[in-house]
Parts: sequence; C-alpha cells; structure tokens
Amino acid sequence: MQLDGISLIRLTPEHSIKPFDCDNEDLNDFFINNCVHYQNELLAVTYILENHEKTVAFFSILNDKIALKDVGNPNLWDKLFREKMPENKRFNSYPAMKIGRLGVNVEFKGQKIGTAIIDYLKAWFITNNRTGCKYITVDAYSESLNFYKKNKFNFLTEKDVNKDTRAMYFDLQQIANLNTQVATEPLIDSSSLPAPSSN
Ligand SMILES: CC(C)(COP(=O)(O)OP(=O)(O)OC[C@H]1O[C@@H](n2cnc3c(N)ncnc32)[C@H](O)[C@@H]1OP(=O)(O)O)[C@@H](O)C(=O)NCCC(=O)NCCS
Repeated sequence: MQLDGISLIRLTPEHSIKPFDCDNEDLNDFFINNCVHYQNELLAVTYILENHEKTVAFFSILNDKIALKDVGNPNLWDKLFREKMPENKRFNSYPAMKIGRLGVNVEFKGQKIGTAIIDYLKAWFITNNRTGCKYITVDAYSESLNFYKKNKFNFLTEKDVNKDTRAMYFDLQQIANLNTQVATEPLIDSSSLPAPSSN
C-alpha cells in the first residue's frame, strides 16, 4: 500500500527500521529491539507505516480469545458475550485478534493515524482473515484509554480499574452486520494520513 509517500509494510528480518519515537519507552524499545524476535518466534506480526525517512507508526498483532476468566464476573460475561449469541453458540470463549503494541511517532500524533490503523484492522479482520475472529482486544495503557474509547472499544472487566493497563475489546460483529461497503472501502483512507508536521 502506498499513500502520499507513506507505505504500509509487513516487517521482515531484513527490514532496516527507520527512526521512531512514540514517547513511550516500552513501546520504543519493543519496536527497535524486539519486534523481529517476536515475529521469528511466531508470537506477533509487526506492520510498519513509514515514509522515506521515518517510521510514522507501527502495530504488532497476535491471536487471542475472550473467556469468562478474563471478564471475571459470570453475570457480566453472560450479559456482554453469551446472551448475544444464539443458544447453540454460547461458548466458554470466543476468538479474537489482539493489538499487542501500537505506537504513533510523536511527530504524527493527533492526526488520526492511530484511528486509521484501528479502522484498517477492523476492516481487515472482517474481510481477509483466514480464521474466525469475533473481537479485537487490547491491553490499553491508561494514557491511551480515551483513544480506544473514541474508537468504540469497551472495557472487558472491572478487575483492572486503577491498573497500569486495562483490557478492552471491540466487537467486529457491529461492522460485519453493516453494509458490506464498509469492508471493501480502502483500508487506509489517504485523507487519514496527512503529511508530517514540521519540527
Ligand atoms: C495512543 C496513540 C496510538 C493515538 O494515536 P493518534 O494517531 O495520535 O490518535 P488519533 O489522532 O487517531 O486520535 C483519535 C482520538 O483519540 C484521542 N486521543 C488520542 N490519544 C489520546 C491520549 N493520549 N489521551 C486522550 N485522548 C487521546 C484524540 O484526541 C482523538 O480524539 P478526537 O477524535 O475527539 O479528535 C498515540 O498517541 C501513541 O502512540 N501513544 C503512545 C503509545 C500508546 O499509548 N499506545 C497505545 C498502546 S495500548
């Protein structure tokens, strides 16, 4: 994918990672030093948005599931998950894709690039996924809760209130039920990927 000088690529071992800082040391360290190892060990796959000189953003994704033990409260589990399903599909867990890491370069923050990535993933996982996937999950840093709320993610449990990260989820069924046009729109709208702000 090539949009206004920004490409989306799947990380390869040979890829030369371009400068990146999302103002979060853990995420910076993961991206610079660890994402290749996670990929080699089949633990997560990393995708990179970059222009000719900088990394604009990256995200790493992996398989996941949502189960009763994650929610903790059986009543909440029934209400949020099981009761939505037909009687014969009320399982003890449901398949998901996890956003293991997501970071946007500080120079590009607040330009809806994070939202474009989330929209891309939502569309991708109702059209091109090779296996069943009903939810997107994330362990969201406290400083990013508002970002995920704005992108229609909900809290999975009350167990992690006041923790450094909170488990959140998005139900892909919400958009799978909409007009199929949603799923066939360009995955990243070029209007969502503006030119970098000047330093
Ligand atoms: C969180 C992050 C991915 C957001 O990316 P972004 O491209 O700047 O976000 P967007 O421009 O798409 O923002 C969408 C909305 O979320 C809000 N938002 C984004 N980051 C926010 C934050 N840290 N605090 C509060 N609101 C935030 C924006 O104000 C915007 O609201 P609006 O639609 O009313 O204008 C990015 O700031 C980042 O990399 N942060 C550091 C790492 C991090 O926390 N990653 C999440 C890992 S769980």
